[in-house]
Amino acid sequence: MTDATILKTPKGWPAILLPRTAPADATDLDAAMTAGAFSGLRLVMRDLGATGTTAAIGASGLRGRGGAGYPAADKWRSASATEASSRVVVANGYGADPSSVTDRILMERNPFAVIEGLAITAFAIGAAEAIIAVRADATTTIRVLEAAVAAAQDAGLVGNDAFGPGRHLDMTVRTVQGAYLLGEETILLKALEGKRGQPEQRPPHPATRGLRGLPTVVHNVQTLAAIPWIVVNGSEAFAKIGAAECPGTILVQVRGPEASGVAEVPMGTKLRDVAGLAGTPSGARSLKAVLVGGPSGGILPPDALDIPYTFDALKSAGAHIGSGSVIVADDRACIVDLARVLTRYCADEACGKTIPCRIGTRRLSEIGDRLAFGTSRAGDLDLLTDLASDIVGSALCDHERLTTLPLVSGMRYFRAELDEHLERSSCPAGVCHPIAMTAGATH
Ligand SMILES: Cc1cc2nc3c(=O)[nH]c(=O)nc-3n(C[C@H](O)[C@H](O)[C@H](O)COP(=O)(O)O)c2cc1C
Ligand code: SF4
Repeated sequence: MTDATILKTPKGWPAILLPRTAPADATDLDAAMTAGAFSGLRLVMRDLGATGTTAAIGASGLRGRGGAGYPAADKWRSASATEASSRVVVANGYGADPSSVTDRILMERNPFAVIEGLAITAFAIGAAEAIIAVRADATTTIRVLEAAVAAAQDAGLVGNDAFGPGRHLDMTVRTVQGAYLLGEETILLKALEGKRGQPEQRPPHPATRGLRGLPTVVHNVQTLAAIPWIVVNGSEAFAKIGAAECPGTILVQVRGPEASGVAEVPMGTKLRDVAGLAGTPSGARSLKAVLVGGPSGGILPPDALDIPYTFDALKSAGAHIGSGSVIVADDRACIVDLARVLTRYCADEACGKTIPCRIGTRRLSEIGDRLAFGTSRAGDLDLLTDLASDIVGSALCDHERLTTLPLVSGMRYFRAELDEHLERSSCPAGVCHPIAMTAGATH
């Protein structure tokens, strides 16, 4: 099992994605079916049909959990409306962010929910091929998924004639390995084709032209795992959970002073309560910031934490859901140091295909370094603002916009701390060691 604590959540919070207690053997199909697995697939095949299933997912308000929050049913409609000899569904289980294991935990504890969600999606869009893409170093996850897919195949739930005579669903677990960017859907599809991983111009989106040119719906594994629950319990029941504009639950990976672990939280939970699942700095320590969204996350101050944990609210606040990572920082953290390390990481991970991202994120990272090293130039913060707004929207994938978030949110909420670094080469938290201050030091 991937090592992760499941954090305790308040009584009454719904559990759609993760079973309340870890199953003795998550690949035991009989036990899973006794608990209700695959009853959603039976329902769509028997009662709802392809159009009814898509309508049900549309009515539920399900939005993709992979980061952008795009309505799931809209992708299905695009794929279904595209004339093609066949279609494909891909479960994105890459889990790019090294600070979050939410998707791995889901695949290991509830593999049949992902498999059933894939099968239902395939049925709804008329796909004959389903792929679960996992990073090659997630060996436990791969073993669990392969055993679960084999069990579903032996039971005739996937494979030949799965959707009726002559209607096959070929399902495979494919391993991919690469850098952070590989989780981006167009790169992931390239990797699955055995090609060099760089994003493609969109449109066409994968839903109309994806793997080997076929209409391909790519969903994060959490999106897929919610689908059987919606089919069985109804769109209305799902729409009532979480936030009105973003129903359901989501997995988060929270790191705080008391714990670090994964939790399933209703969408729309106050960010303060999500962060609080891992404890709050106390005693001599005080809460300084919460980093939301992983390496390209936003850094938010305590008084911005009463926003709901939703795609839209976090975006407005200068952060994003991203990988579901939520990291609590106490007063010992330096925002400049935090932002510059994250920006450096993201700039290093840029694939380099588009110039504004390749060069622009590098220049942003240098501004961060100059702030930390006491070598800032007059006008650096104006340059940061201009660069960030020039980079956004000018590249092939969202990585360029996301890379601006740590420094831009740092400047928005912690301006005084940035000014201290810029004007006095001084780090209030005592983390940065400006070159100007240490010049001549003998150690
Ligand atoms: C830099 C970058 C990294 C990404 N990494 C992941 C990832 O690890 N897992 C994932 O599901 N989506 C990732 N995405 C989002 C995918 O491109 C895509 O939007 C998502 O898989 C679609 O699934 P959804 O419809 O369930 O949201 C990433 C996007 C970007 C720009
Ligand atoms: S935006 Fe960045 S990561 Fe995305 S394609 Fe362009 S260079 Fe590559």
